Amino acid sequence: MQELSVRHLLGIKDITAEDIQLIFETADNFKDVLNRPIKKVPSLRDITIANVFFENSTRTRLSFELAEKRLSADVINFSSSGSSVKKGETLLDTVNNILAMKVDMIVMRHSSPGAPHFLSRHIDANIVNAGDGTHEHPTQALLDSFSIREKLGDVAGKKVVIIGDILHSRVALSNIFALQKLGAEVMVCGPVTLLPKYIKELGVKVELDVRKALEWCDVANVLRIQLERQQMKYFPSLREYTLYYGIDKKMLDSLDKQIVLMHPGPINRGVELSSDAADSHHSIILNQVENGVAIRMAVLYLLASKQ
Ligand code: CP
Repeated sequence: MQELSVRHLLGIKDITAEDIQLIFETADNFKDVLNRPIKKVPSLRDITIANVFFENSTRTRLSFELAEKRLSADVINFSSSGSSVKKGETLLDTVNNILAMKVDMIVMRHSSPGAPHFLSRHIDANIVNAGDGTHEHPTQALLDSFSIREKLGDVAGKKVVIIGDILHSRVALSNIFALQKLGAEVMVCGPVTLLPKYIKELGVKVELDVRKALEWCDVANVLRIQLERQQMKYFPSLREYTLYYGIDKKMLDSLDKQIVLMHPGPINRGVELSSDAADSHHSIILNQVENGVAIRMAVLYLLASKQ
């Protein structure tokens, strides 16, 4: 049996193109399972997984929980709101107490970049990073590239632009690593204040004009403005952002080609995307969500064999 080169999924930076292909091939099989009348397999019947979320989530938390249940794992859910974290408990104490209940794997979202990497140096259980601050969101990038592969046949050779708040986005960084490992050309587009200073060092193209970016690309992955991570004003107003960087269906239809429109969610309708664009035939946004379950099943299944 083929194996991943890692025993934790902390970031796309740490895995190889072969790891990604193995995850995709495994996810193809799980997607077949998910399309059957009985959507469950016994693969992780003896494994207990804790979903430990220190930050808000809808898609990622539900998608992991469903993936775990489809694999027949036992699942417990921890959310920091209402927990003893509010009484001053440390991250390591919280996780060690969860592990004392005979938990095998930890899926963790945390607002601090590097939190899952810190944990991996102190605990034995497999860790999956479900988003660490502005750093990485590896399973989102995997499901994004998997969805491009499903829609366009391959990721290699495709031109993908990531549009919006690149500075605060873990989705952007993980997508850049995944797309480049799979042989895509990557561009970022947004107001110059929302592009990190180091961005060109990652080997991506930079475009400030959203229309030119859309004309260049095969795929546009549109990100939300992460107001919750912004301590200062990076642009005058949301209205002005929408004026210069908002994408609507009229703009998509006016391109002389069909492009694929993606968004990791949650969408701020009327800001980065109009409703008619988000719900148009260009969009594969709900396919991304559907594919998230198969990708997360694949990641958990492959990591469980590395215990
Ligand atoms: N895409 C994503 O991470 O969504 P949630 O914050 O709802 O999990």
